[in-house]
Amino acid sequence: MAKKARKKTKKATKRKTVKKTSKTTAKKSAPKKAATRSTNQSVTLIDHANDREYVMPVMSGSIGPDVIDVRRLYGDMGYFTYDPGYTSTGSCESAITYIDGEEGILQYRGYPIQDLAEKSDYMESCYLLLYGELPTKSEKAKFVHDITYHSMLHEQINNFYRGFRRDAHPMAIVCGVVGALSAFYHDSIDISNPHDRLVASYRMVAKMPTIAAWAYKYSQGQPFIYPRNDLDYASNFLNMMFATPCEEYEINPTIAKAMDLILMLHADHEQNASASTVRIAGSSGANPFACMAAGVASLWGPAHGGANEAVLNMLTEIGEPKNIKKFIQKVKDPKDPTRLMGFGHRVYKNYDPRARIMMKTCHDVLKELGIKNEPFLDIAMELENIALSEDYFIERKLYPNVDFYSGIIFRAIGIPTSMFTVLFAVARTVGWIAQWNEMIEDPHQKIGRPRQLYTGEVDRKYVPINRR
Ligand code: CMC
Repeated sequence: MAKKARKKTKKATKRKTVKKTSKTTAKKSAPKKAATRSTNQSVTLIDHANDREYVMPVMSGSIGPDVIDVRRLYGDMGYFTYDPGYTSTGSCESAITYIDGEEGILQYRGYPIQDLAEKSDYMESCYLLLYGELPTKSEKAKFVHDITYHSMLHEQINNFYRGFRRDAHPMAIVCGVVGALSAFYHDSIDISNPHDRLVASYRMVAKMPTIAAWAYKYSQGQPFIYPRNDLDYASNFLNMMFATPCEEYEINPTIAKAMDLILMLHADHEQNASASTVRIAGSSGANPFACMAAGVASLWGPAHGGANEAVLNMLTEIGEPKNIKKFIQKVKDPKDPTRLMGFGHRVYKNYDPRARIMMKTCHDVLKELGIKNEPFLDIAMELENIALSEDYFIERKLYPNVDFYSGIIFRAIGIPTSMFTVLFAVARTVGWIAQWNEMIEDPHQKIGRPRQLYTGEVDRKYVPINRR
């Protein structure tokens, strides 16, 4: 039975031939819309309570499982669906990123992440995510120029930093400062105007490294380093992190390349918690910078972007390879909440393709920096071996995810642990803004408003305070 069900899922994820409704020569200024279509198929729901049958249409995308259209279910049958954590619920149509978790596939706008990692760079991937197509040479040059020339922050934003405690977590600072951008650019944004949305998108992508690096500088009590227009995106970020007014920072091309790759691998990941948060926040018509701050907040948690920080904390807790066995026992104990951080994924149940790429980069960076016998790497490798060979992890399909290796690379580069998730936020900003743009353009877009299964008290009589 289980085998049959698995077979069915596989079949459902087979590529489908979709009749294209729009020509591929569509103007590049507007991101492409999803090519969804109704199929002739349907699914029938039988309500045994009153012997009613309800036929629900099935919709098909360009690839991936079909979806049952339940939009009219409540109106026609009086039922809501129940799906905490949205494990089986498609919340929107999207043409940005495709993931097949069973097969370990990740594609941005149809391009496999492996190809992009090998042949492209972060700026090109940003353009791809925002516009739907790879840029020509001149389009790329203009895009890079425009992003570069939006990277400075309004000088008054400095004051926001000074309001934070020095020991504030940089994610708290980034969340606050990104939200504060809405106070600087609110009046100039008409979200129904594609040009205004594009300007907001460029501003977001361009300013994020500055916001992030300044959060670090503030925590160190060092002067802010302003962006440099002669540097590429990743190098500029590293320079703002590590240069001081007294001393230039020598940019190591291997490190800059690794940083660029990390940014690219984290750029988008379809309807994850933070992207969905951005979409829901934006669905009310809110200011995009405020929506991005909501994305930062969602990313912060250890089950999402906070995992890279949690990986390092875990490796620190383990300390030495001899303690691994004991730690794994804790992880496997159902009464103990300890999890192997950097392992497992809601979607990837085979292998996170980003983790494979990251593993190689991790070794390149350690080699370039001459780091040998890095104890954390030894522990990490041992944990990986255990997870790939022990039944507990195999049965639950728990493989290393992207955050497992990125944490080790960041540590080698000299980025403090508390900044790991901030870096994820820098990278993911383009994904959030692309998802937000797509949501605003979607003609089916409605305010996000899930339903619930109420289990609380009902119709209680108010008791005056002196009688309670
Ligand atoms: N270590 C040990 N056991 C685990 C882990 C883990 N990392 N992840 C899941 N499990 C077990 C879990 O205890 C459960 O076991 P049982 O069936 O016996 O109760 C089973 O696997 C299924 O777990 P789940 O919580 O239902 O799975 P999920 O799909 O809801 O969770 C996850 C996905 C990423 C939140 C989870 O795997 C996790 O907490 N991983 C560690 C945190 C982490 O690395 N997060 C980064 C994700 S990648 C970055 C991103 O895209 O945001």
